[in-house]
Amino acid sequence: MSGAGRKSFADWLKIILSFGLWGRSTRKKHGQKGRTEFDILRAHDFLRSVLQYSHDMIFVTDVHGFLISFNKGGEQALGYTQEEIVGTLLKDLAQDPEELLKLLEDSRKESSAVSMDFSFLHKEGHPVYFNISLIDLKNAEDKSIGTVGICHNITRWKKLEEDLVRVDRLAEMGRIAAGVAHEINNPLAVISEAAGWGAVVAKDAKGLGKEDQQELEKIFADVIEQTKRCRSRTKQVLGFARDSEPTKKEIDIHELLKETVAFLGPELKYKQIEILYQFTEGPLILKSDPKKLEQVFVNLLTNAIYAIKEKGEGKGEITLHTSASDSDAEIQISDTGTGMSEEVQAKIFDLFFTTKPTGKGTGLGLPICHNIVKKLGGRMSCKSRLGEGTTFIIQIPLA
Ligand SMILES: Nc1ncnc2c1ncn2[C@@H]1O[C@H](COP(=O)(O)OP(=O)(O)OP(=O)(O)O)[C@@H](O)[C@H]1O
Ligand SMILES: [Mg+2]
Repeated sequence: MSGAGRKSFADWLKIILSFGLWGRSTRKKHGQKGRTEFDILRAHDFLRSVLQYSHDMIFVTDVHGFLISFNKGGEQALGYTQEEIVGTLLKDLAQDPEELLKLLEDSRKESSAVSMDFSFLHKEGHPVYFNISLIDLKNAEDKSIGTVGICHNITRWKKLEEDLVRVDRLAEMGRIAAGVAHEINNPLAVISEAAGWGAVVAKDAKGLGKEDQQELEKIFADVIEQTKRCRSRTKQVLGFARDSEPTKKEIDIHELLKETVAFLGPELKYKQIEILYQFTEGPLILKSDPKKLEQVFVNLLTNAIYAIKEKGEGKGEITLHTSASDSDAEIQISDTGTGMSEEVQAKIFDLFFTTKPTGKGTGLGLPICHNIVKKLGGRMSCKSRLGEGTTFIIQIPLA
């Protein structure tokens, strides 16, 4: 076919547009007269349905920018029906109307289609991202008579792109956090040792009254206790950032839970929290990583203690319930604390999600737990009711 005889896409669109205005009535009026007219009408119908049912959004505007045609792909993408939208100004659908007007102007100047990423607004108000090509339509006198837009919906790709950027940023924050945790670890060790030495000196100090001596000893004990907590935190962050492989050995879950409770003993006593044990009979032996599981229990118990204190009733209960199936051990940690709304529950495993004030929570506890349980081949879920309390359920394979 010669270059002169070949019709471009824009040419076809011109034909469709012009037929669109009178095509059906012409066919009715003249019937299938000549072969050429019949072919054109068939081509017209064919292309019309291709354009109408394309998944891409295809629209036609007149020279003033009023929509005169809008296909099914457009209806799906923007939520409007043809009837609602035909006759409105295209720029009123754009997220940035000025930019669209500039694009339309560019398309009139260029001889080929202008193509770029652009967003229109959905009927419900949110942006929908497209890669759009604008084609200027000209009549026989080479005068612009309108514009055709072919818009490929790229919202999913845009979202993926945004997610990737976010993941990248989170990874960077993880690296920074790990660096900070590493730097903090050494001074913490020094503080802890100094406090231990201080406690010894205070005990043997001459010239100090009994009361002063006891107070000093308590202060040093507090410093040692709190640095121990900080070190366990920095260790968690480092472990998370390095994502070390679990080292599995045989353990009794009941013993491990009791040890964890003992570790948090002073805090539980201070906050008048009672621990209720509902253990399955005998030991609950499984092969897993005790250090990592302990980390999970410490995190969950710390959250439970906080939730009970937040409720402000002055006391509360934490129930540790265990059971076993043929394949898994199940551990339930329930508290009588504040509970959570459904919105909060939906986000608790997101990195850095916290409802605690600055300085009280980092939002790392539960994502770390989730990650550990997953690595150990288990599952973790949560049930909660606002104002009543929360239960975390962990299932770990026995073998
Ligand atoms: N037992 C619970 N009761 C009520 N809310 C809870 C409980 N456990 C977790 N949450 C909610 O989930 C959020 C996220 O918990 P997560 O342990 O990940 O972070 P955090 O406790 O806020 O901070 P971090 O553990 O890093 O100090 C908490 O801020 C809280 O809103
Ligand atoms: Mg926490």
